[in-house]
Amino acid sequence: TENNDVPIVIIGSGYGGAVSALRLCEAGKKVVMLEMGLNWEKAGIPFSNLLKPGKSSAWLKKKSIAPFMNIFSLTPFTGILDRLNFEHINIWVGRGVGGGSLVNGGMAVTPKESYFKEVFPDLDAEKFYNHYFPLVREELKVNVIDEQFLKDCPYYKFTRVGEEEAHKAGFKTMRVPNVYDFKYMEKEFRNEVPRSALNTEVIYGNNYGKNSLDKTYLRKALETGNLEILDLHHVQTIQLNDDKSYTLKVRQIDTSGIMVADKVFNCKKLILSAGTMGTLQLLLQSHAENNFPVHEKIGKKWGNNGNFMTGRNWVKPLSGGTGAKQSTIPVGGIDNWEDPENPFFTEIAPLPMGMDVATALYLLINRVDKKGEVAYNKASQSLTLNWDESNTLKMKENAQYFIRKMNKANGGTRSHLLFDNGFGADICYHPLGGCVLGEATNEYGKLKNHENLYVLDGSLIPGTIGVNPFVTITAIAEYCIENLIKENEFA
Ligand code: FDA
Repeated sequence: TENNDVPIVIIGSGYGGAVSALRLCEAGKKVVMLEMGLNWEKAGIPFSNLLKPGKSSAWLKKKSIAPFMNIFSLTPFTGILDRLNFEHINIWVGRGVGGGSLVNGGMAVTPKESYFKEVFPDLDAEKFYNHYFPLVREELKVNVIDEQFLKDCPYYKFTRVGEEEAHKAGFKTMRVPNVYDFKYMEKEFRNEVPRSALNTEVIYGNNYGKNSLDKTYLRKALETGNLEILDLHHVQTIQLNDDKSYTLKVRQIDTSGIMVADKVFNCKKLILSAGTMGTLQLLLQSHAENNFPVHEKIGKKWGNNGNFMTGRNWVKPLSGGTGAKQSTIPVGGIDNWEDPENPFFTEIAPLPMGMDVATALYLLINRVDKKGEVAYNKASQSLTLNWDESNTLKMKENAQYFIRKMNKANGGTRSHLLFDNGFGADICYHPLGGCVLGEATNEYGKLKNHENLYVLDGSLIPGTIGVNPFVTITAIAEYCIENLIKENEFA
């Protein structure tokens, strides 16, 4: 086995990893980033669209794994979308250089200040709203759709119908910012450039238009000359050495998932940014197999960010439904967060199936009042999740309330086309928590019981943030790494 000695290793190239890499590299530190997924930009392989799932559509699977309607068989390839199946919930995650930013819908939402304060009572909210949130919106290239384009573009009929119906039902709507370049989208529409959002590209990757992390934080970090990204490098376990450094067992694979080499990396400083589920797997598995010390709070306060999918069929069938042509980038939301009885936020989601299915799809985000817990099963070498219908009960109540009110005002039926009983309680895009900031770590993400290990990703957020999470994950990572560097942790 090849043995590598490096000063700083970051595991994972999603939001937490990309922010840490940029700030450390700017501070003159040499950083090696280990990412299990493929570097798609370097590989030069195009992403597939929703209607024709190909290489990018699934992580080493024989069948596509979209939330619904999978009829496609695949040759296993290191695609960018993976699904982790638990008894009561399925969790989708991104794999590849750029992590979740490759697969996600790009919705860049800053949380409500009141809820941010409730979730993070110890953080300086003023500093976040005046400094970290504006900073990350700038770095991530967040922008907003032009209202006239939205009004005129046939690809946004689903949003216009969704907002009109919401207003009729007495709900408040909001414009949702995104990292997809809306000026590019306008050019797509005029056929001046190749199409992406207007060509059913999302979740299997966007070939154009989307400012994913490989085009923002990671590109800037690489430009410093201090970052080396090793893709298709899967970290298997971590060992704590007597001198408080770490040894990583790493398997390099090829694009069909077959082992190319087993490697060892020794590092003085380790940053875990493998995403909520990846980070918990590494910590808990290393604990079970290597006596790796973990704090009792690891695995606690896990949540699905209140994700709850639902839909309505038979939406305005006589006036052309929700539209045969749909952009994959959502720009509308319904904000019912201030309702004390049924607080929720919901995305008015596209369903670009290439035909008019007169169906409206919604991804609700609710509070998570009952949190779950993650543990490790040594026999099956996998995570277990203490999470069942009792955790999503209130979310279901909110979804029922929402659908009832929408149908009463507008017609339509509960969607049996998309979900067994009209509700997708088991669909989770936003796993959060399990390594909560200030509980399992110190106030800046340094893991308790450790001197040289930091966790910087979604696992720091205690299971809920009330909106789509990546703006918050990025802002927390900025805050932590800035202070860790200030405190000379990487000197
Ligand atoms: P992230 O998951 O981004 O990155 C972790 C990286 O670590 C991955 O690249 C993974 O391959 C790698 N890794 C894991 N284990 C490893 C190991 N052992 N060795 C090496 N590498 C390893 N959010 C939002 O705000 N707006 C939105 O519109 C959406 N939409 C959306 C759609 C879909 C389909 C999904 C699946 C998710 C979203 N999200 C979203 C959620 C968002 O993408 C997610 O919260 C963030 O990507 C999480 O960022 P992290 O930095 O925590 O990890």
